[in-house]
Amino acid sequence: MLRDVQEILFDEKAIAQIVTKIGKQITEDYRGKDLLLIGILKGANVFMADLMRKIDIPVQIDFMAVSSYGMSTESSGVVRILKDLEHSIAGKHILIVEDIVDTGLTLHYLMDNLISRGAASVASCTLLDKPDRRKVDVNMRYVGSVIPDVFIVGYGIDYAEKYRNLPYIASLKPEVYTK
Ligand code: IMP
Ligand code: MG
Repeated sequence: MLRDVQEILFDEKAIAQIVTKIGKQITEDYRGKDLLLIGILKGANVFMADLMRKIDIPVQIDFMAVSSYGMSTESSGVVRILKDLEHSIAGKHILIVEDIVDTGLTLHYLMDNLISRGAASVASCTLLDKPDRRKVDVNMRYVGSVIPDVFIVGYGIDYAEKYRNLPYIASLKPEVYTK
């Protein structure tokens, strides 16, 4: 796998620092509230696992899976729910946990969808933000780091379902996309 990596953008230590900082902010902002974290599978799985352990108030968790890119590196713009929540979210404070926001289409759809289910509030948290390719405006309360328009993998994030298990976040060599 390492031979496919072009550059490591965030190593394990850098990621841990970002996650700890966001966890502290969430702890302060949601103290005394009924917080439900909704992780977006599969990409946010690793981030979610680390982030929830840096939040020092009671939280509940749930997951949704939505289709985004399929096996390509371009968003289709069509969002489909592949796995839905287990319980009603009426009256709950929702924090969507995303790995990366690119065009914004996925998060925009999810926020609208969850608001329409009667949540008390819906906010979002993303580890990485790639604003260069944004197609719709989305409001993110917590952003780990803003990155340029490079396709990245690792720490849960894939290319064609590979590289999710890398403990760091890295760009791939161009030849990986063409082979
Ligand atoms: P959006 O709908 O275009 O904002 O895309 C959001 C989803 O696309 C993310 O949750 C990721 O699963 C995927 N994605 C966006 N950028 C990248 C990337 O650089 N590498 C891998 N997946 C990405
Ligand atoms: Mg993906």
